Amino acid sequence: MGNAISRLTPVELTAFVTQYARALDSRWPTPILGDTLADDIVSKIAYDFDAMGVPSSAVRQTALRAKMLDDRVRRFVAEHPDAVVVDLGAGLGTAMMRVAPPPTVDWYSVDLPNVIALRDELVPEGEQAHSVAASLTDDSWTDQIPSDRPTVLIADGLLAFLPESVVVTLFRRIPEYFSSGEIAMNDYGRVGRLNIAAMKIVFSAVGTQWAYRGFSDPHVPESWSPRLRLVEETSLSHAPEIDLYPVAARVSTRLMGMTKSGARTARILRYRF
Ligand SMILES: C[S@@+](CC[C@H](N)C(=O)[O-])C[C@H]1O[C@@H](n2cnc3c(N)ncnc32)[C@H](O)[C@@H]1O
Repeated sequence: MGNAISRLTPVELTAFVTQYARALDSRWPTPILGDTLADDIVSKIAYDFDAMGVPSSAVRQTALRAKMLDDRVRRFVAEHPDAVVVDLGAGLGTAMMRVAPPPTVDWYSVDLPNVIALRDELVPEGEQAHSVAASLTDDSWTDQIPSDRPTVLIADGLLAFLPESVVVTLFRRIPEYFSSGEIAMNDYGRVGRLNIAAMKIVFSAVGTQWAYRGFSDPHVPESWSPRLRLVEETSLSHAPEIDLYPVAARVSTRLMGMTKSGARTARILRYRF
């Protein structure tokens, strides 16, 4: 496994940041997500995770957005037992085990080949799970995925690392290829230069760059494809789980959520097609 880890590029290493964040959350006395499997997986990787210096604020946000995305997938598969779930930039994430969909659902995890190789070694998944080793910059990522079933696609922590042209092409491609479904993703609104500089510090140990500054108007992706319709914009700062935050973080997050621009800095967006 040591070789596989040393081959990871900075963008691929971001999979460690989010997985470790969920592992840390699961060790807290009152976890937000409580994904103990994330911690089991981290314990099998010989890597200095502490050196990544993942701040508690990132742990909380990563855990909460995963929980919110899980809820959306759970709802979709309850309505569509024949659904396909596609986790875009899945990393080492264990959303399938948390959601526990019925066996009639097929779950596809798409990520770059080095990450999928590690994922296949470390993430214990059953027959309904399928790995797709491909770059989302290449339209062929859909080749192994059925197109004719209700499909929910999730993107957790992905879009920031893709150039804008790739994000736009991806959002055009999804409703062209899949006959019907939803895309649910986490989002930060339009990210200012100061925040990008702050993120550079958060991700300095893995050395990756924030590539996409995003948009504040959640309707923007509708202009990329006529089939996309915004059906949800929900701020993390309005989630009931904020009550689990320590006092200072709870107050600052609630205050942030009181303005539209503040609420948009950590949100879940969902589009139907
Ligand atoms: C911050 S991680 C998030 C991983 C996972 N969603 C999670 O929550 O743990 C971003 C992921 O996007 C993947 N990624 C980045 N660019 C990609 C691309 N062009 N094609 C496929 N995956 C990509 C990375 O390899 C990494 O696993």
